[in-house]
Amino acid sequence: MPLAPYLSRYWDAPESWTLETYLANDGYVGLRNALATGPDEVISTVLDAGLRGRGGAGFPTGRKWGFIPQAPGPDAQEDPEASDPAAKPHYLVVNADESEPGTCKDMPLMLATPHVLIEGMVIAAYAIRASHAFIYLRGEVVPVLRRLQTAVAEAYEAGYLGRDILGSGFDLDIVVHAGAGAYICGEETALLDSLEGRRGQPRLRPPFPAVAGLYACPTVVNNVESIASVPSILQHGPEWFRSMGSEKSPGFTLYSLSGHVTRPGQYEAPLGITLRELLEQAGGIREGHTLKFWTPGGSSTPILTDAQLDMPLDYEGTAAAGSMLGTKALQIFDDTTCVVRAVLRWSEFYAHESCGKCTPCREGTFWLVQIMRRLEDGTATEDDLERLLDISDNIVGKSFCALGDAAGTPIISSIALFRDEYLAHIPDGCPFDHSRSTVFAR
Ligand code: NAI
Ligand code: SF4
Repeated sequence: MPLAPYLSRYWDAPESWTLETYLANDGYVGLRNALATGPDEVISTVLDAGLRGRGGAGFPTGRKWGFIPQAPGPDAQEDPEASDPAAKPHYLVVNADESEPGTCKDMPLMLATPHVLIEGMVIAAYAIRASHAFIYLRGEVVPVLRRLQTAVAEAYEAGYLGRDILGSGFDLDIVVHAGAGAYICGEETALLDSLEGRRGQPRLRPPFPAVAGLYACPTVVNNVESIASVPSILQHGPEWFRSMGSEKSPGFTLYSLSGHVTRPGQYEAPLGITLRELLEQAGGIREGHTLKFWTPGGSSTPILTDAQLDMPLDYEGTAAAGSMLGTKALQIFDDTTCVVRAVLRWSEFYAHESCGKCTPCREGTFWLVQIMRRLEDGTATEDDLERLLDISDNIVGKSFCALGDAAGTPIISSIALFRDEYLAHIPDGCPFDHSRSTVFAR
């Protein structure tokens, strides 16, 4: 299957991030098309294209926009205190808090082509009739913050943001907000709490943000790549988008390859490409080694082995293999990697990032780390393996948000695939020579 670079097609162009370069590459054509139709038609177009959320869950983007309750008249969305959600202001929030381990697609996208995100936001805000939009960005990535701020200023200057955009009568203001670097603030409702100035912790859903989101008003929360995919759909049409990928997972997407590959990086391709095909583009597993295990969509997704090299990397293909497409973060581990040590690193991450709101995750992630450490240093017993599975079982599906599920998933899937390797850690600890692994060498 040929790669179809679209979002990344001019990432290498000189000053790709400027408005000038963006306009030279069909920039803001999709917006003009959108403004020439109408909000409902824009939602229909995105729905027809079959665009699915690129943040991990794959929820249909057009359907999410369609959930926003519409007011009967243009002036009816002005009352934040109204009891009818349709009469409240609407908001668009872009989730740019990318922090799933192995996931690194949104940051390069925003660095290379910030205007495609801004154009997508104007189109989305127009569709859902929002006049205020926010980009919630990880605070640590200061170069991305500066680039976004500069691009937003350029867009205001050129009339793509602000009052009466391109003479359409539509107004939009965008605020770039830097978070403080908590993984949980990538969970959409924790993000909204954080944006409102509170400690970021997940809210109970339902109500979903589409009904009661930012300041309890109807809010669409979309991932960066989802929104950045919208201008091309408005420019080329839904059939063009559907000509790529598979029936239920149409279009192109960014896959992030990291770990033991010859050329790690972002690989854009139609959905449904396989890891084997992507590895061919990336120069294969590092020389002299073989693939041991990998994640299709970051550490929250069940790990796979070379048995799934030809599995279509789309929502259906990964689900059929008992995993998930997630964020399309393909972390590749070769034969030098100790699976217990890799999973321990992820467990430490989840324990550190647990927000502490619910008991199964707050307590369970702590105990998972203690037991995984015992395995690594040779003080675990065979009972500990069952204990790991029991604790994971008490976290997955019983926690308040998806972080708990994510913490148990790599433990359950790695024990299912590599039980012998776990047992080999008892009683003498890790049998691996970590100096040979580029990923886990200390
Ligand atoms: P979800 O499936 O619960 O929801 C997906 C989206 O659809 C949300 O925006 C939700 O508000 C909306 N939605 C679902 N049902 C709805 C309904 N009945 N009415 C209105 N809106 C509805 O998934 P969730 O918990 O938002 O995200 C989990 C995913 O996030 C995981 O699959 C994981 O892959 C991904 N993730 C991504 C990270 C990153 O760095 N990009 C970090 C951690 C997780
Ligand atoms: Fe917080 Fe973890 Fe509970 Fe999510 S699952 S609410 S991160 S404690």
